[in-house]
Amino acid sequence: MKIDHRLVKILQHAQSVTVLTGAGVSAESGIPTFRDAQTGMWATFNPEELASPEGFQRNPRLVWEWYAWRRELVQQAQPNPGHVALAELERRVPRFTLITQNVDGLHQRAGSQNVIELHGNIGRVTCSAEGTQVHEWATSDDTVPPRCPNCGAFLRPDVVWFGEMLPREALQAAWAAAEMCDLFLSVGTSGVVEPAASLPRAARHAGATVAVINLDVPEQNQPPLFSIHARSGEWLPALVRAAWPT
Ligand code: OAD
Repeated sequence: MKIDHRLVKILQHAQSVTVLTGAGVSAESGIPTFRDAQTGMWATFNPEELASPEGFQRNPRLVWEWYAWRRELVQQAQPNPGHVALAELERRVPRFTLITQNVDGLHQRAGSQNVIELHGNIGRVTCSAEGTQVHEWATSDDTVPPRCPNCGAFLRPDVVWFGEMLPREALQAAWAAAEMCDLFLSVGTSGVVEPAASLPRAARHAGATVAVINLDVPEQNQPPLFSIHARSGEWLPALVRAAWPT
């Protein structure tokens, strides 16, 4: 795969690189995206029912079980070459921040260290009343979702639902990383969910080169804006190889 040499040069000289990822990065690990017309989660499932506080209030069991199913999918999945290339990129550049909207933890499993999770992590569980993380709970078929051992409220996945605030510290750190980088890569995200969607623009305004890598975008390479139609699992490893040939 050919990588634009201008982008390679910019990467080689960058002091600070920030990457925003979305569901497209995990698609090649077999985890469905949200908005792809045929295969996306939201083609089959209703986000208002399954990913909102109101939906959880109406049918907590359905929501818990849907997340339990997704958690299992994630546990069985493996990081793909795109995840691995991002971990490699982190080792190569002086300052590197990975901002992800994904809740699957695959970046960390691939070796990424400096990861900001904007939408939480499906592997963690919190109390729906107290917001505290819970590590152990009693399970039985009659209590789904399980109850908080401390206060008795339902437990829920530690993810951000529609209508909920993003974790404040994560958002602040993401914003700072977008505004101080030389190169910003937006990979595998449809860019429609705020505030993550505004990060590439913030980076651009602050003077960074921005490259968008997605299956949906038309090719358009006009520095400082690149838009690249590619699979992340192919393009990211090719970028690292082009910048640091062994
Ligand atoms: P989307 O499903 O909205 O977008 C995924 C994007 O990845 C699409 O534009 C695809 O074209 C692209 N894509 C698919 N496979 C790819 C591949 N192999 N390489 C590169 N690109 C590929 O997912 P997100 O943008 O992550 O939030 O969605 C943002 C948020 O909306 C999610 O975090 C989730 C969802 O509702 C919540 O649940 C709160």
